[in-house]
Amino acid sequence: MAINWPANARKSFGSDILQASHTLDQSPLFCDAALAALLDAYPRDQLGIWTFGEHGEGEEAPVRGRAPDLSGEELMQAVRRGRIWLNLRAVNAKVSDYGPTADAIFGSLEQASGQKVFKRDMGVLISSPGVNVHYHLDIPLVSLFQIRGEKTMWVYPATVDFAPDERLESIVLREQEEGLTFRQAFETSARRIDMKPGMAVTWPQTAPHRVQNGDMLNVSLSCEFMTLPGLIRANALYANGKLRRQFGAHPKRPNGLTPATLGKAALARLMKQAEKRRIANGPTPATFELDLSAANCVRPLSGVEA
Ligand SMILES: [Fe+2]
Repeated sequence: MAINWPANARKSFGSDILQASHTLDQSPLFCDAALAALLDAYPRDQLGIWTFGEHGEGEEAPVRGRAPDLSGEELMQAVRRGRIWLNLRAVNAKVSDYGPTADAIFGSLEQASGQKVFKRDMGVLISSPGVNVHYHLDIPLVSLFQIRGEKTMWVYPATVDFAPDERLESIVLREQEEGLTFRQAFETSARRIDMKPGMAVTWPQTAPHRVQNGDMLNVSLSCEFMTLPGLIRANALYANGKLRRQFGAHPKRPNGLTPATLGKAALARLMKQAEKRRIANGPTPATFELDLSAANCVRPLSGVEA
């Protein structure tokens, strides 16, 4: 399998949007039968089953579902007919057949960036025609590989105007999910990327983004990772969040590997060691169950939690 990032990626890795070409769309691991087998092999209680409302201004929390009794084949039918996305996180750690694909992807990112790439998590996303993912940001670095179908991605600047510092810190501190408030006015600053099979993209750490599927089933790989500068920055954000909340400070967003950023990263390590990390909210409870006989394959659960 071939993955080709631009020759000059080192200079702009982590600060610019970079696109690659690849041949993973030709792999037999992503045909319908292989995906059904993957869904059968993957631990069902860890399978992310989600839906979102229509795209619009404001905030839109993802809605979680469950499917304890469907086969992999039936799950594929539900994706085709419904309005859902299945998120199989860390497939590289859970289903060994997919390990070499992840090694090739993260190896290519290591080469392109000239940096060690760790915390490697390759998620397989299988999503319905027309479904969208609301405006949000991720703390790790992310690379999205498009395998089947077409989707449009909008990426916004990783600045305070598009995600206020306090919200960004809340996400690092795990006080809230990754969702953010979307404003129509952001559109003029967005970079639009039309993803087709054989394309991959990576964007600056914590840059907000949203995704809209075309009118067909989509298969993509969401590859999360960290580099040393990325990890230092995430730790500095964590320290900023603590300083703002516990000491009333007004810290600036980390920008590059300055002594202040490195100091905050060290501080964050100490803080994390000193306290038991508080998990503010448990996992989002399931509010629907996939059911092939229900409208859009969704049967609401009333008063039942997964
Ligand atoms: Fe994301």
